[in-house]
Amino acid sequence: MGETMLAPTHIPVMVKETIEALNVQPGGRYIDCTVDGGGHAAAILSHSAPGGQLLGIDADPEAIKIASNRLAAYGSSVRLANENFVNLSAICYRYDFSPVHGILFDLGLSSLQLDSDGRGFSFQHDAPLDMRFSPGQKITAADIVNTYSETDLERLIRTYGEESFSRQIAHRIVEARPITTTLQLAQVIAQLVGQRRGKIHPATRTFHALRIAVNQELENLASALEQAIKLLGWQGRLVVISYHSLEDRIVKQFMRREAKDCICPPSAPACVCQHNASLRILNKKVITPSPVEVQVNPRSRSARLRAAELVATRDEQYQIIEGLSTKKEEKSYGWRRPTLLKKLRQAFLAP
Ligand SMILES: C[S@@+](CC[C@H](N)C(=O)[O-])C[C@H]1O[C@@H](n2cnc3c(N)ncnc32)[C@H](O)[C@@H]1O
Repeated sequence: MGETMLAPTHIPVMVKETIEALNVQPGGRYIDCTVDGGGHAAAILSHSAPGGQLLGIDADPEAIKIASNRLAAYGSSVRLANENFVNLSAICYRYDFSPVHGILFDLGLSSLQLDSDGRGFSFQHDAPLDMRFSPGQKITAADIVNTYSETDLERLIRTYGEESFSRQIAHRIVEARPITTTLQLAQVIAQLVGQRRGKIHPATRTFHALRIAVNQELENLASALEQAIKLLGWQGRLVVISYHSLEDRIVKQFMRREAKDCICPPSAPACVCQHNASLRILNKKVITPSPVEVQVNPRSRSARLRAAELVATRDEQYQIIEGLSTKKEEKSYGWRRPTLLKKLRQAFLAP
């Protein structure tokens, strides 16, 4: 999200659109991979009552503390995991939490992180150059700034920050090292590029690039999306809200690829990939916040929502029915089993 706006708390983005895209139903089971303060999670829980369940994940222990207070009223319907969503499959396995009706990713960082004094995400506050979502991560922004070669810094700032002055900025950073605080870095860049460039501060893109690199945001997203579709139940929904073009491109390309039966290059004379479509894209055109929402919450302005639904082949659907009907451990599917079985039987087994 942009570094320039200030808001006291994190306001969840496109809540109505998210609930609709997830098709939240009473009794449904959902994963919020970026639970943060629990804004979307609370909406999912209230729309899935009675009987709904939610597994909320966040890498940031502070976010988990806030979410656990905010969602306390939902009692045992909520489970929270202070984990990185790159481990999504393992987390769900540990919590015995699949298949699910819907999975949400609301990417990036929250207003609470951006506005906090000591996390180093913003140059609005002087703080150590940290930028980790979790204190358990090893690499900080200071490590990158002070140890990467000029070439690697240039590449990182150009690729993740889409910064046209990447070469000059990388050179200046290397000259000015060691750089340990946010203001020091912002000043080094501002002296080079000029105090203001258009509406955004000249250091915005470099800060953005460092945050993406520190948290391996693009790699983690690509891996988590692959894991997510394997955790969805029949007609389960995958909903992703992204805030910049690099992550939105990953989501768009992933959904497009998974919606195709063949992913062979167009030049291939015959299909050899044996790929089967696993998703149906629900919104061909990306969903964006209404002008009213952007006015009330300016930080929502760059949000892009994409949604897709799991499609299973006929064979896979038979396997699901078979698996469920022979499963001894009723508890693993719990509430979900009767509804799912009824629907599947109606679709495939009814005379
Ligand atoms: C935009 S906020 C989510 C706001 C939330 N939907 C709400 O309504 O309050 C993004 C959250 O995702 C978390 N996050 C980002 N990348 C993560 C990852 N790889 N694993 C777990 N949490 C992550 C951040 O710590 C942050 O709390």
